[in-house]
Amino acid sequence: MTYKLAILPGDGIGPEIVAEAVKVLTALRDDFGLEVGWEQAPVGGSAYDDTGHPLPGPTLDLARSADAVLLGAVGGPKWEALDHSVRPERALLGLRKELGLFANLRPAKAFPELAEASALRPEVVAGIDIMVVRELTGGIYFGEPSGVEELADGRRRGVNTLVYTSDEIERIGRVAFDIARKRSGRVCSVDKANVLEATEMWREVITALGERDYPDVALSHMYVDNAAMQLVRAPSQFDVMVTTNMFGDILSDEASMLTGSIGLLPSASLNQEGAGMYEPIHGSAPDIAGTGQANPLATILSVAMMLRYSLDQGEIADRVEAAVERVLADGWRTPDIAGNGEAVGTAEMGDAVIAALRG
Ligand code: IPM
Ligand code: MG
Repeated sequence: MTYKLAILPGDGIGPEIVAEAVKVLTALRDDFGLEVGWEQAPVGGSAYDDTGHPLPGPTLDLARSADAVLLGAVGGPKWEALDHSVRPERALLGLRKELGLFANLRPAKAFPELAEASALRPEVVAGIDIMVVRELTGGIYFGEPSGVEELADGRRRGVNTLVYTSDEIERIGRVAFDIARKRSGRVCSVDKANVLEATEMWREVITALGERDYPDVALSHMYVDNAAMQLVRAPSQFDVMVTTNMFGDILSDEASMLTGSIGLLPSASLNQEGAGMYEPIHGSAPDIAGTGQANPLATILSVAMMLRYSLDQGEIADRVEAAVERVLADGWRTPDIAGNGEAVGTAEMGDAVIAALRG
């Protein structure tokens, strides 16, 4: 069977970094027997420019029919003034909702070679290996009612709604517990149960699930404000963190910064069937788009996650991750992680990974 991928480069540095990931996929196909094929489609602001919509129908159809989607990045200043309904970010939300990608996995792992790049002291971030499991298709991002209305007296009223049903909480909880079993067996669930009823229920559902089906996993709970603080105070206490859509959005950015290298962090968004969308955590970086300076490693590591979670190719995934570690150990650096040292460009970094793969 040949796996079919949808490749959506998107905006800004998206096309440059995805090109390197495609080079890696090509090497895996040609040299390692990975049976894989792919098709590209436009998404985000560039798709809007071409078609008037950030997520054109044919792009969504391609994503639906694929075993996995690889996405670069969407958005940029050019499209910031657009109406919400056609903003590039809408394409991401649309893909998540339409493909049912409810489970967002965002690993934040320290690379020892880059400890100096963190904003925190090296001894604080040494050895951190956190997996943020973010609920991705519910919560305040999608709750109704939502919108802005004009009141009779001329004031405006804006509303978003934080809503979860118990089954939505349970299914993301299962993902977190299952991952914890393959790691250190610890889950920290993050909520705001002291204030928000919906997340008080979140805590109850996660607790009951843990007691019933995962008694072997050590479950703890934390309020989100404390979790934000603990992440910078003592991040190594965390392993798997599971949380709502919006808290996960915020905490995963925070966690990524601990590693000092947002250009290295991949992510996976999975549905019930195991199909998924894979993308680097960083955005479209319009300031450096087109300069050939972007770091392609997060996208290449997203390919590794894709191999592991959607294509069931754990061994090849290990090889890709080992190749990335190798190039870092050998001193290859794009400008974002070079400090004052010497840096290479996007394509050279991609080539270095492929050379390391071929060993
Ligand atoms: C993310 C991003 C998106 C989100 C935006 C671009 C819609 O911040 O993937 O974390 O808020 O989910
Ligand atoms: Mg975010």
